[in-house]
Amino acid sequence: MTTLLLCGTGSTGQAIAKLLQAANRPLVITSRAGKGPEPYRTVAFEWENPATFANPWEVDANIDRVYIVSPTIYDMMPHAKPFIDLAIAKGVTRFVLLSESELAPGDLYTGKIHQYLLDVGVDHFVLRPTWFTQNFGRYFYHSIREQNEIFSATGNGRIPWVSVEDLAQLAFEALTAEQCANTDKLVFGPELYTYDEIAELFTEVLGRKITHKKLSVAEFEQTFVTFGVSPEHSRLLASMEEAVSNGIEEGLYNSPAEKKYIGKHKLSDYIRENKALWITE
Ligand SMILES: NC(=O)c1ccc[n+]([C@@H]2O[C@H](COP(=O)([O-])OP(=O)(O)OC[C@H]3O[C@@H](n4cnc5c(N)ncnc54)[C@H](OP(=O)(O)O)[C@@H]3O)[C@@H](O)[C@H]2O)c1
Repeated sequence: MTTLLLCGTGSTGQAIAKLLQAANRPLVITSRAGKGPEPYRTVAFEWENPATFANPWEVDANIDRVYIVSPTIYDMMPHAKPFIDLAIAKGVTRFVLLSESELAPGDLYTGKIHQYLLDVGVDHFVLRPTWFTQNFGRYFYHSIREQNEIFSATGNGRIPWVSVEDLAQLAFEALTAEQCANTDKLVFGPELYTYDEIAELFTEVLGRKITHKKLSVAEFEQTFVTFGVSPEHSRLLASMEEAVSNGIEEGLYNSPAEKKYIGKHKLSDYIRENKALWITE
């Protein structure tokens, strides 16, 4: 029994790999270059190149569980469908899909993959996390260090920030559980914050003024286009920001207990514990 972590060099893949390795569970990870960190077996896999789809089984014929991550490819289904079909033909009996809190089955992007897993009827578990706390060490790393600002089009909307560690714990449980739950879970952290409140937290922890630059939805979309994200995907991200400003994340956070998983790690602790990241002198 081996687990395949697609995009296993990414933030969630690496956190899940660590848990599987610690539990002595065989695993294979993928990256486009076919190179990844030790001690993992890494194979070349490129979503837009179906010739790479069977590579993982050449390294380990016992792969029977797959963790699916979609990079910023807006229309994933032309790639995900043939891969899932092949994986089932190769003996995969369980898929754990990383989707998003705001995407229900049948919606855009990973919502379509979610729907396909339901249609095929294969065992599956779908993670629907909110925004990651670690985004502040990645996407906002430079803007905090160099411009003393974070930016969003979320207005005064609150987000129940979740840590990648909490998400990975749930993914690990879904991948290794005896019985597959065949459901999806909203995945949140324990505290809700607006970007204004987060700017205040940074100001307090770093001892210098950090501001929240409030962008319009159109400005946010354009910012992501300049980062190299496709116009369609930038539009999707901007529409999610707008939905936050309309209270969607807070509403989802208040869903009944059986629909959600609330992790332990707090955004405020993440900022305090990692403050060296944003200190410049
Ligand atoms: N950040 C958030 O707040 C948030 C919230 C909810 C959901 N999500 C979802 O999380 C997912 C990203 O997960 P993550 O953070 O674990 O990943 P990540 O850290 O962004 O890394 C992306 C991974 O995808 C691989 N990759 C990129 N393009 C690829 C391609 N064309 N074919 C195959 N592999 C490719 C990269 O590997 P190589 O470079 O090694 O090839 C890398 O391992 C997205 O679907 C996003 O929607 C994110």
